[in-house]
Amino acid sequence: MKRLLVSIVIMATSIASIYAQKKLVLYYSETGTTKTVAEELQKQLSADIEVIECVKPYSGNFNETMQRGQREMQSGEWPELKPLKSKLTNYDVIFLGYPIWFGTYANPIATLVKNNDFAGKTIVPFCTFGSGGLNTSADALKKALPKATIKEGYGLRTARVAAAAKEIKRFLVENHFVQGTITPLPAFSAQKPVTDAEKTIFNDACSSYQFPLGTPSTVGSRKTPDGTEYKFTVKSNGFGGGGGESIIYVVVEAGAKPEFTQVVR
Ligand SMILES: Cc1cc2nc3c(=O)[nH]c(=O)nc-3n(C[C@H](O)[C@H](O)[C@H](O)COP(=O)(O)O)c2cc1C
Repeated sequence: MKRLLVSIVIMATSIASIYAQKKLVLYYSETGTTKTVAEELQKQLSADIEVIECVKPYSGNFNETMQRGQREMQSGEWPELKPLKSKLTNYDVIFLGYPIWFGTYANPIATLVKNNDFAGKTIVPFCTFGSGGLNTSADALKKALPKATIKEGYGLRTARVAAAAKEIKRFLVENHFVQGTITPLPAFSAQKPVTDAEKTIFNDACSSYQFPLGTPSTVGSRKTPDGTEYKFTVKSNGFGGGGGESIIYVVVEAGAKPEFTQVVR
């Protein structure tokens, strides 16, 4: 009993100290989606915010950014950034935001992590993407910043930006960055072969995406406050991944069309 009380007090104290930590939302955004998420995070966290800017901005045109981005990746000549106004030493926790480019964090973040000292900082990655890339970019940050602590992050599809405020609230409360009330989510049920009805849900959520996302083989599900969430195991069609396996999450909310929330490759 005494031990239980001691651990409750330790937990309450450490959560209280998380609330007191100084937080900065630091982000790059080319076409505005990550900016929307960054500003929502700033609002809900009451944190400071700074945008990362390139000396020579990208044009905002998809094909041009693709070409320039690929050239930079191949040559390792990352884009030059304007100096940060914020002093990173003033912050305990940095919410670091970026769009996913080529499966990882956008090129300006490569410059940022090369040129700044993040040792001892807690970093919470957040990103926006066409289909996915939170896990791969967080792994890349862990490699690039071995002296920082990279926490669980938040990722949002460009097509689902309307869900940002609600999802961010859940993310911040679940991870004890803010106080609030949310309904805890149960675990997913065990993976089972997909039924025809589940295949239809998968296709409704995924078939309009610009690239083929594969064929679902098994699925687990769970009830959420707004409907049902599915976790599909998917055999990729070979596009971009050589026929590997991915996990695709799909939500079906009352009165709404099924939507996939992210692909984990
Ligand atoms: C050069 C480039 C590469 C991209 N690569 C990916 C990718 O590998 N995976 C993905 O899901 N989305 C990819 N996207 C889509 C962006 O991640 C997505 O549109 C993002 O929300 C843009 O954020 P922003 O509006 O803050 O710039 C790419 C976009 C660009 C311009």
